[in-house]
Amino acid sequence: MENEDYLALEKRIGREHLSERLLRQAGNSAKLLHQGEGVFRLEKFLPVDSLVSIGLRCCGLGGLVRRNFLGVRVVTRHWSLPHLPNAFEGFRLLQLTDLHLDLDPELTPVIEHLVRSTPHDAAVVTGDYRNKTDGDYGPCMAGLERITSFFAPERWGILGNHDCIEMVPSLERAGLPVLLNETADIRRDGEILWIAGIDDPHFYKMHDLRKVRSFAPGEACVILLSHSPEIYSEAERVGFDLQLSGHTHGGQLCLPGGLPVIVPCRVDRMFVNGRWSYGTLQGYTSPGTGSCAIAARLNCPPEITLHFLHCAGPADQADFVP
Ligand SMILES: [Fe+2]
Repeated sequence: MENEDYLALEKRIGREHLSERLLRQAGNSAKLLHQGEGVFRLEKFLPVDSLVSIGLRCCGLGGLVRRNFLGVRVVTRHWSLPHLPNAFEGFRLLQLTDLHLDLDPELTPVIEHLVRSTPHDAAVVTGDYRNKTDGDYGPCMAGLERITSFFAPERWGILGNHDCIEMVPSLERAGLPVLLNETADIRRDGEILWIAGIDDPHFYKMHDLRKVRSFAPGEACVILLSHSPEIYSEAERVGFDLQLSGHTHGGQLCLPGGLPVIVPCRVDRMFVNGRWSYGTLQGYTSPGTGSCAIAARLNCPPEITLHFLHCAGPADQADFVP
C-alpha cells in the first residue's frame, strides 16, 4: 500500500483505528494459519489441509467434493422488516461472502456467471477475499474486479479475518467500496435504507457497533454487515434490523444432514448456517460462496444469497433453491 493510501485511510477512519489494526496485524498470532482458538492447534504442527485432502481422495470423494465446491447456487431468502420504508418493498440485496478467490481460479467464472444472471438492486460482500490470512492479495483482485463489474451500482464490502486493512484501496479500485465501521445509505423516493459495515469482529476485533448505528436515526431500518455472526447479542442490544454474516462456511465439510464437524468461531449451532433470530434481531449466516484451505465441500453447498426485503408479511415466504 502506498504512503498516500495510508494517509487517506488515516484521514477517513482515524489514526486510532488504523494504528490499532496495523498493530494487531503485526502480532505473531495474526500469521497463524486459520487464526483458530483451539486448545491443541494441530494445524501449527501438521499439514492438516493436505491430510484432509488426501483423506477425501482415499475415500473416493475427491471428485465429489470438488464438484460441490464449484456447484455454487443462488439461494433466495425473504425478510419481513418492521422498520423497512415502503419504497424498499421487494428490494433485492445480493450477498456474497468468503470468496477466498485465490484458492482455485475455476471458481471466479462460476461466480461471475451467477452474479451476471441474477437481477438485484444492491450487492454486499461480507469479507474474506483471499485464502490465507497473510501474503499476497493481488491474485484475488483481478477476479474480484470481474465479479463486481456485474454488481448493481450500489455495492459494499467489509473485511473479514483473512483480510488486512492494506487491502482496502485495492478492493475499492476493484469496484467494491469497503465499510470500515462506516455506514452507507440507499435512497428511494425520499426514503432511506441504511447499510452498516463493521471491521472484522472475529480475530482483529476492530468492530464498533455503537459507532455504525449512531450514523442512522433511531427509528431507521439498518442492515448490519458483520463478517462473523458472533457479535449477535451486542448487535441486538445496539439495535439493528437484520444482520448478514458469513465466516463459518457452514462447516464446509459436514456430516450428512449438514452437521458441521468444525466451526471456526464460538457460537451456538443455530448461528452457524442459515436463518436465525435473537430477540428483536433477525440474521442470516451464509455458508459461504467460496471455500477455505481446500477446494472441497461436503454436505454443505456454497451459495450466493438473494435477500428480498419486505415491509410486512410472513418472515419466510417460500424460500427456494433454483
Ligand atoms: Fe472468516
